[in-house]
Amino acid sequence: MVSSLSAPQAHPHAEASSSLLPSPKAIQIQNVSVSYPIGKKLRRTILEDISLDIQQGEFVVLLGETGCGKSTLLRTILGQEHPTQGCITVSGSTVQRVDSRCGYVPQKYSLFPDRTVLENLAMGPETSNYHILGRLKPSFRAYRRKVHAEALNQLRHLGLQQSDAGKYPHQLSGGMQQRVAIAQALMMKSRVLLMDEAFSALDPATRGSLQRLLRSVWSETKPTVVFVTHNTAEALYLGTRLIVLARSSQADHCGSRVALDMQLPASGMSLCNNGQEFLDLVDHIEQFSRGDRHTMPSPDGETR
Ligand SMILES: Nc1ncnc2c1ncn2[C@@H]1O[C@H](COP(=O)(O)OP(=O)(O)O)[C@@H](O)[C@H]1O
Ligand SMILES: [Mg+2]
Repeated sequence: MVSSLSAPQAHPHAEASSSLLPSPKAIQIQNVSVSYPIGKKLRRTILEDISLDIQQGEFVVLLGETGCGKSTLLRTILGQEHPTQGCITVSGSTVQRVDSRCGYVPQKYSLFPDRTVLENLAMGPETSNYHILGRLKPSFRAYRRKVHAEALNQLRHLGLQQSDAGKYPHQLSGGMQQRVAIAQALMMKSRVLLMDEAFSALDPATRGSLQRLLRSVWSETKPTVVFVTHNTAEALYLGTRLIVLARSSQADHCGSRVALDMQLPASGMSLCNNGQEFLDLVDHIEQFSRGDRHTMPSPDGETR
């Protein structure tokens, strides 16, 4: 069935997919497994032997059934969790802890509730460039003015008003809070943006407008994005590469693996523009998500 789909193709390996000059890898995931203890002796494997090379400027959408380990993989790239085996590099160096190489936008509640929008935006750059005592230096005032001006620019860019800068998060709608959360990640100028179901708590209209906004932000500056969702239509609209994680067995020692890894057209796909091709692709992807199909060999060595 997928052979009738012209644009997306199975993801060729890094060197083959690039033009003459291979672009540097933004994220390299090498044989990563993550497992958690259950009881005193046993462990449950969540992710099993995941290897992925993500190039700079790719917009990777990560799909899979609830509980398959999408958030775990994202938190491991962020440095909030550590692989039980394997290793992850971001921009060429190993991830050991959370640092400014990756911006992170969760589903909600990422803003400090007791700080204004402007303070939320300025906090990251200020704390990473000036420690507490450094803020007594005269240069800090000039730096703060610069950061505030940049924050106001970022707000405008993301469709918020200057008057929103003095508001507290509880005074903003969910959609506005997520705009601020994206602005907050962009303020850190991280070249990698990790987003975990960042739009799933929003109503459909707000979700649509934030999807368009994110696409335009990505088209302008081409950060590397890893965007977790379980909405296949959202994934096809946003991504340039789609990865499905799925377990091949429910046994505790079997974690999720990469069940599908495919390139998507950079222009994004939608039901409106791609009609039946879009519907066929959704169906194809969901078979992999459910674990009905898997590109990895099953334990008996057969490819299903
Ligand atoms: N710190 C942890 N300790 C034990 N189990 C965990 C921990 N974090 C996640 N898990 C388990 O890992 C599995 C995958 O979780 P998660 O990555 O949140 O899945 P997804 O985001 O795909 O829904 C779940 O079964 C969850 O309960
Ligand atoms: Mg999750």
